Amino acid sequence: ADVVVVLDEAYNEYLDDAQQYDSIAWVRKYPNLLVSRTFSKAYGLAGLRIGYAVAQPALTDLLNRIRQPFNVNSLAQAAAVAALGDVAFLQRSAKLNRAGKAQLVVAFERLGLQYVPSSGNFVLVRVGQDDGAGARVNLALLKQGVIVRPVGNYNLPQWLRITIGLPEENAAFIVALERALK
Ligand SMILES: Cc1ncc(COP(=O)(O)O)c(C=O)c1O
Repeated sequence: ADVVVVLDEAYNEYLDDAQQYDSIAWVRKYPNLLVSRTFSKAYGLAGLRIGYAVAQPALTDLLNRIRQPFNVNSLAQAAAVAALGDVAFLQRSAKLNRAGKAQLVVAFERLGLQYVPSSGNFVLVRVGQDDGAGARVNLALLKQGVIVRPVGNYNLPQWLRITIGLPEENAAFIVALERALK
């Protein structure tokens, strides 16, 4: 009860119906729970730098005291309000992500690469058995104009984190990955 619990829901919009849960009911129940959400992922508004938190007034009042003045501009707020009402875009975004995830997973299985099943908009894939693999394949991808995320700093030097893109971007990545692995 004397610890603030932050539940980061950055990727919740990508969850299947069966994975959904009612965090707002938990906020009503627990005064020490704060749920954070972002418009940077499924809403596609990362460049506007906007998100929000849901918590009971005692907690939001503390945040309000330390936040910078004018920390979210009015254009971003208008876009966020419009985005909240754009259910069709969100559904399209989640569908595109599901299809892209399947596209990557099929390629990983064909190439015999281990991966971690994902519920978000990225997939973690093991690109080699030696600890230089992540950095080596990342560099080979960079040289082909493909930017992914090395995760050696999470103690996963054999793995890369691949963000799901548009179908043609995923396809270009797969071609580049095959070259990089050779
Ligand atoms: C786990 C997690 N939480 C929250 C965010 C929030 O992103 P932003 O600062 O763009 O709202 C990200 C984005 O990378 C994330 O990966």
